[in-house]
Amino acid sequence: MSAATQPVQKTGGSTPPAPAHVGIIMDGNGRWAAARGVPRALGHKAGAEATRRVVEAAADQGVSWLTLFAFSSENWRRPADEVRDLTGLMRHYLRHEVGQLVEKGVRLRIIGDRAAFGPGMLAEIERAEAATAGNRRINLNVALSYGGRAEIARAARDLARRAAAGEIDPDAIDEAALAAGLETAGMPDPDLIIRTSGEQRISNFLLWQAAYAEFVFQPVLWPDYGADHLRDAIAEFRRRDRRFGARTG
Ligand code: IPE
Ligand code: IPE
Ligand code: MG
Repeated sequence: MSAATQPVQKTGGSTPPAPAHVGIIMDGNGRWAAARGVPRALGHKAGAEATRRVVEAAADQGVSWLTLFAFSSENWRRPADEVRDLTGLMRHYLRHEVGQLVEKGVRLRIIGDRAAFGPGMLAEIERAEAATAGNRRINLNVALSYGGRAEIARAARDLARRAAAGEIDPDAIDEAALAAGLETAGMPDPDLIIRTSGEQRISNFLLWQAAYAEFVFQPVLWPDYGADHLRDAIAEFRRRDRRFGARTG
């Protein structure tokens, strides 16, 4: 472990350690392409390259969990040709990146409505998850057709169904029961959420899980993102004072 990846020791009380779980809202592919006068599809392709770099950088920098927002449940509203480009790229990535992921010790999980992409992509997802299931260096969640509200609604619906069937007592439904019905069940909540491109909003990403996440907004467009940007965001995170509602002084 290099000095840069070592957790900062608490000195006056409040310096947080490195984030165990980082979420990234990877935004700005379209603006990157527009700035170069090239088709949006090339921006998305460059974005996929950045994704590859950042997974490696996160593992190097001691991040155990990385959740990348790649396609939101609202991104289906984009023009059909862009949706086709994006799904084609994701499918290509899934098919051709698995070997690299295994080599690099990356365990891949997809969160979101995977069935929405059709049976071909579904099979590709299942194959990639199974092939990487034994990897331990870093856990990579890729959010595809993911929406935080839909995820919470689904968990609530499941609990309601079980309560109606008499399997659980409605009065026993607590935060832990709801969290256990989310796709992130068993994973730590994100400590740090990064959004690139200058936009400062959550756009339906990890709504429940982000309750006490620190947010870092970086103006860089996603295709230009690299290891140094991630290092900067983690350094900013370590300067934050996380109180979780309590008092530190
Ligand atoms: C992020 O880049 C990729 C997806 C949301 C799928 P955008 O395509 O949103 O890029 P901008 O925001 O238009 O620049
Ligand atoms: C959020 O980006 C979703 C992803 C990065 C996958 P968008 O570009 O879709 O978000 P809005 O529409 O600007 O809020
Ligand atoms: Mg965008």
